[in-house]
Amino acid sequence: MSSEVFPVRWEDGTVVMIDQTVLPAEYRELSTKSVEEVVGWIETMVVRGAPAIGVAAAYGIALAAIELRDKSRDEFDTGLAKARDRLARTRPTAVNLFWALERMIHLAESQVPDKSPSAIADLLLEEAKDIQNEDYEMCRTIGKLGAELLPDSGGVLTHCNAGALATAGYGTAVGVLRAAWEMGKNIHVYSDETRPRLQGAKLTCWELNRLGMPFTLITDNMAGHFMQQGKISAAVTGADRIAVNGDSANKIGTYTVAVLCREHNIPFYIAAPLSTMDFNCPDGSHIPIEERGRDEVLDVIPGCAEVYAEIHVANPAFDVTPARLINAIITDKGVAYPPFEESLVKFREE
Ligand code: MRU
Repeated sequence: MSSEVFPVRWEDGTVVMIDQTVLPAEYRELSTKSVEEVVGWIETMVVRGAPAIGVAAAYGIALAAIELRDKSRDEFDTGLAKARDRLARTRPTAVNLFWALERMIHLAESQVPDKSPSAIADLLLEEAKDIQNEDYEMCRTIGKLGAELLPDSGGVLTHCNAGALATAGYGTAVGVLRAAWEMGKNIHVYSDETRPRLQGAKLTCWELNRLGMPFTLITDNMAGHFMQQGKISAAVTGADRIAVNGDSANKIGTYTVAVLCREHNIPFYIAAPLSTMDFNCPDGSHIPIEERGRDEVLDVIPGCAEVYAEIHVANPAFDVTPARLINAIITDKGVAYPPFEESLVKFREE
């Protein structure tokens, strides 16, 4: 069994996705030619993880363009804008979604007026494939750069899933762990289960298991204990949106991990491609945080649906880790150190 995992890809005229809602119990692939289906799959988290959502959205635009390829140029432009707006309403926090949509729409809009919709649709499909391939390469670079920061041996904590499943392949935070392991470092991963949707337990552990890497699954409330015991030497997570000052939104609970790291004098790293940077966002207070349904929180309490019908449940899907708690941000352009408003902006200019 190959250890490579590609959550979104183009095959025989369709978009194929690994259905991440049924892992690890079942491995199932879904395929579609419909942009509406891609919209639904992003919303229901068949595909999730910031860079993977970006790749899925790019293919969504390519599918819309293919559906519209026999229309007039005006109808094509209007239809594409509608598809963009619909995809943009799926999930608010991961900026990679908006980054990919903008890149795709910019390509379409920059075509001369007499270019045929059919020719533009071909270009858009190639662009979506480029976004996918570039993300994979960026993850490889992030992996190599980040692996250098990890100790030669020791426990490394990660939260949520920032692995191959969350990207075009290879992963950001898991890419760092994987690259360190591949270069011979004696890394033992601690994977937070990541309530409420359990991306750590269901997805990160599935990936680490396939890779044959040593790891321990822990519940979210155990991280402090293992740090206190000296079992964890570093923590690395992905990000969904990074503000100019370095404040980083990631899966709910990431902030708690960063606070615990500071208390225990353990370095806390974020690993993310530059497409996760929001250069229009000055700090974390401007990052929109997705609020998801109450069922995700209640589902784990057997038989509570009726008894708890009236209780208030909060379910923010992300939190913001302030830049002051982040030791470094590992990007595909290099490792950024504080002050991030200087180091990250420099990468953008390169
Ligand atoms: O709600 P999800 O599963 O899409 O959240 C995913 C995360 O928070 C990841 O850590 C983040 O997107 C980085 S993925 C490389």
